[in-house]
Amino acid sequence: MLPEQADIDRAVALLQAGELVAFPTETVYGLGADAANPHAVARIFAAKGRPADHPLIVHLAGAGCLERWARDIPPLAWELAEAFWPGPLTLILRRAAAVPTATTGGQDTIGVRVPAHPVALALLRAYAEAGGGVGGMCGVAAPSANRFGRISPTEARHVREELGETVPLVLDGGRCLVGIESTIVDLSRGETQPPRLLRPGRVTPEQIAAVIGVLPQTATPATSDDAPRVSGSLAAHYAPTTPLRLVAPAQLADVVDALQQAGRRCAVVCRSPLPQAVSPHALRKLPDDPRGYARALYRALRELDHSAADLIVVEDVPVTPSWAAVTDRLRRSAAGAQTTGLRDG
Ligand code: TXA
Ligand code: MG
Repeated sequence: MLPEQADIDRAVALLQAGELVAFPTETVYGLGADAANPHAVARIFAAKGRPADHPLIVHLAGAGCLERWARDIPPLAWELAEAFWPGPLTLILRRAAAVPTATTGGQDTIGVRVPAHPVALALLRAYAEAGGGVGGMCGVAAPSANRFGRISPTEARHVREELGETVPLVLDGGRCLVGIESTIVDLSRGETQPPRLLRPGRVTPEQIAAVIGVLPQTATPATSDDAPRVSGSLAAHYAPTTPLRLVAPAQLADVVDALQQAGRRCAVVCRSPLPQAVSPHALRKLPDDPRGYARALYRALRELDHSAADLIVVEDVPVTPSWAAVTDRLRRSAAGAQTTGLRDG
């Protein structure tokens, strides 16, 4: 089922020609294009319906290509790259002069990461060997392969469903093991400023602190003036089209029961079993550990979004550091889903 060499070759040829290729990473599927080619990058924005001022993450085959994309790279960045690449960590650094402004959304910084999925690495290595696109820069810009503001895809078929014919090739690498987007750490503010966590993910602040000796500060980019724009930081993001509501575990059964009695079709995402007497319209029971939960979450939300439910009710998760990345995605999903009609239930 994994792509064969011929598929990788075709993907490389498409990237070299400035076309789009969707590919699996360990986090979510990415919508890739030559990050050094402004015309190719424009195709990403058009396919996603993404505003032009939202920067893209550049994917590299290894940290060896980093200096083509970034300048003034602080020692902390090399330490983090060494510890976590290939893997689900994106570093925000000052951008090198050759980087097109289309890729950075007009900012003076650049997001970079080396993904850990074997298909992504095979693609990036073959791409580098084949010349690596415009200027031999060897970077593939890839946002999550979904329409702007919607749920990130964790399977190849999600990409096909959502983007259809606009993507000439979707490499199928099976289900993504991490399931939510990479951790983003901003190291672009100079060595006197502490690193900032722009998006929580599988790599936790504590793991980062264990490597560099400093805990990254949690940023609130939507409210602070000097913070770079992060589309994943908009309050409404990663959203299904069905209204989504978070409910405390102790209230879950009663809330669902009352809504069903009132004729509202509830699709439920829970971690603990619902009592027999409560029968929701649809149900997904997810693992009760944060990693397993993250891996399964987007698929469950996508399926329930298609279940003709009136609303999705999610059993809230614990307020502990290990659940922070999941909490972040659930809060944004709740804010982004159409929330009309929720207050009466
Ligand atoms: O796990 C991931 O990171 C996935 C896979 C495909 O690698 N990619 C991903 O890309 O989530 P995207 O574009 O959906 O989200 C990337 C986030 C966006 O919120 C973007 O604004 C932010 O990274 N970002 C990229 N470059 C940035 C920069 N220079 N400064 C601040 N934020 C940046
Ligand atoms: Mg995204």
